[in-house]
Amino acid sequence: MMERVTLGGVEISRIVYGMWRLGDDDDTSPAHVQSKIEACLDQGITTMDQADIYGGYMAEEIMGAALKSAPALRDRIEIVTKCGIVEGMGRHSGVGIKHYDTGAGHIRASVEASLRLMGVERIDLLLIRRPDPMMDAAETGGVLDALVAQGKVRGVGVSNFRPWDWSLLQSAMETPLATNQIEMSLLAGDAFTIGDLAFLQERGVAPMAWSPLAGGALFDGSNGPLLAKLEEIGKAQGVEASAVAVAWLLAHPAGIVPVLGTNSLSRIARIGEASKVEINRETWFTLYALANGRDVP
Ligand SMILES: NC(=O)c1ccc[n+]([C@@H]2O[C@H](COP(=O)([O-])OP(=O)(O)OC[C@H]3O[C@@H](n4cnc5c(N)ncnc54)[C@H](OP(=O)(O)O)[C@@H]3O)[C@@H](O)[C@H]2O)c1
Repeated sequence: MMERVTLGGVEISRIVYGMWRLGDDDDTSPAHVQSKIEACLDQGITTMDQADIYGGYMAEEIMGAALKSAPALRDRIEIVTKCGIVEGMGRHSGVGIKHYDTGAGHIRASVEASLRLMGVERIDLLLIRRPDPMMDAAETGGVLDALVAQGKVRGVGVSNFRPWDWSLLQSAMETPLATNQIEMSLLAGDAFTIGDLAFLQERGVAPMAWSPLAGGALFDGSNGPLLAKLEEIGKAQGVEASAVAVAWLLAHPAGIVPVLGTNSLSRIARIGEASKVEINRETWFTLYALANGRDVP
């Protein structure tokens, strides 16, 4: 059974399916997207990760079309989405320079667009996509609190925030921030040592990990010894190398919630296998050393 975790009062599955690449698939039909969601649900993966900007501001609509054609799916999933990046594509095609907007007007408008495009009444978790150097914490915190109070979103969090960005925003709002979605994988391990994970652990906040397979780079031949070890461990436990790489994140005591982004139906159908893999401390460090190209000092 897939483990469930609670982020800021919102219960989600321990492993999440990410829809950043949804629009890159050759098949974006409602029936195919529905198959992807059902393949997740079959494994107890109930949480879908979206953002306004995915697919050039189109991915929410692609998922929305699937939910409209199979409305019963809505109540079986939790939806995480994000906002805050404005780039000249899709509904923002008139925009000049790519920029961040964490102002109340933009966040509100983005939430309304997300609700409409996905055809849902409420977002389960809304994340601010990146730290905005122009953020007015009182304004951003105020609108996030208001969206929760109005029931437009159940919980709010952030993404790619450093500890001080988190503290600033949290200091200006009532709602406890639910999570920080950051990059973490065997090939992107900074968060383990620069304090980002420690900061969340101290607060009892589970982080989400984006690109847990390093966006596929684990398999591109650039780190043969690491891949060979992942395959060896996987073979011994009857799973693919990718499941071992995800299990390496699951084994960390911070309670990391990996967000996987494969478009392949057969890979989606096996995402949950990561939760069966046993990673002891020695195995964890074996993979860590291979990823870093050296033993720990
Ligand atoms: N908050 C943020 O700033 C942020 C940034 C980036 C992503 N995200 C979220 O994180 C999610 C996951 O990101 P991601 O897609 O980069 O994650 P990922 O799961 O690390 O990488 C997925 C990529 O790896 C490939 N892949 C997976 N298994 C493979 C295998 N066994 N062999 C070869 N290639 C393999 C997939 O190709 P196939 O499709 O062909 O399987 C896909 O292109 C996104 O969907 C999004 O929700 C958030």
